[in-house]
Amino acid sequence: MHSPSLPSSGLYLDLLQKVLLFELWDEPPVPVSRHRPWSHRLPWWVLKQLDAALRLLRLGLVYNRPLTPTDRREGTFWPVHAHTMIGELRLNQLRAAAETVLREAIPGDFIETGVWRGGSCILLRGVLQAWGVTDRRVIVADSFAGLPPPDLARYPQDRGDTLYQVPALAISEAEVRDNFRRYGLLDDQVVFLKGFFEQSLPTAPVDQLAILRLDGDMYGSTIVALNHLYPKLSPGGYCIVDDYFLPPCRQAVEDYRREHQLTEPLIPIDQSSVYWRRAPTPRNDRD
Ligand SMILES: C[S@@+](CC[C@H](N)C(=O)[O-])C[C@H]1O[C@@H](n2cnc3c(N)ncnc32)[C@H](O)[C@@H]1O
Repeated sequence: MHSPSLPSSGLYLDLLQKVLLFELWDEPPVPVSRHRPWSHRLPWWVLKQLDAALRLLRLGLVYNRPLTPTDRREGTFWPVHAHTMIGELRLNQLRAAAETVLREAIPGDFIETGVWRGGSCILLRGVLQAWGVTDRRVIVADSFAGLPPPDLARYPQDRGDTLYQVPALAISEAEVRDNFRRYGLLDDQVVFLKGFFEQSLPTAPVDQLAILRLDGDMYGSTIVALNHLYPKLSPGGYCIVDDYFLPPCRQAVEDYRREHQLTEPLIPIDQSSVYWRRAPTPRNDRD
């Protein structure tokens, strides 16, 4: 049975979470070059040109985004510096899930499909470190080039999705590796699985999972991850769906659960996300 190696491990993880969320500092104004404001009185092209002109003078345009404590708790915005966008409640749940599977000895590695800057996976690696676990891996699955355009022939549910056009969602593998390195958590217990899920997940080098965290936003990204990875989830393992509030993602989850007759209750984490724990396979299905 594992247990946190030192009493201070809990304090380490508390601090790690705060740093991953950039909570020790105020959220700065947002550079226009990095995130397009959702709405502004000036058209986007005017803002971009102003910014480009200012850059010639080594200046830059930023905009203020009023945030409430709820925004931070619920992860309702794309942060400027934080290494994860999932907010306090979802990060707390992820840590609790990881610590529960270690405490209960639920076998398997941890995977996130859709990692952005890598912060959620960095927390998972930090939990393994804090608990002195050396026989589990964190699998970091992403294109490292942003979302794919919708594949309407296969997944018409993704019609109208334009997230593939958002540069802020395309974070390179080098940048994610560097983020792990900054926390001293880049080692051979972290496995990078690069590529669009359709290509990378069918041959994912993983036999058994204790945590399956889905954060690919789209119907296609969610259903592909469920099809290839859910069968590897151990009984008692966690399936965490970050984007359940997005109708296409929700549809993918409902379709998969209906097709496979999954009846485990969905447990809300915050306004966006849910999880369930995989029930043990009934004895007559195993025989
Ligand atoms: C919302 S971000 C993930 C946020 C992240 N989990 C965090 O903790 O901040 C979505 C990520 O999913 C990736 N993604 C979405 N669909 C994908 C697909 N089909 N194949 C590969 N990567 C995908 C994108 O590249 C992006 O990094």
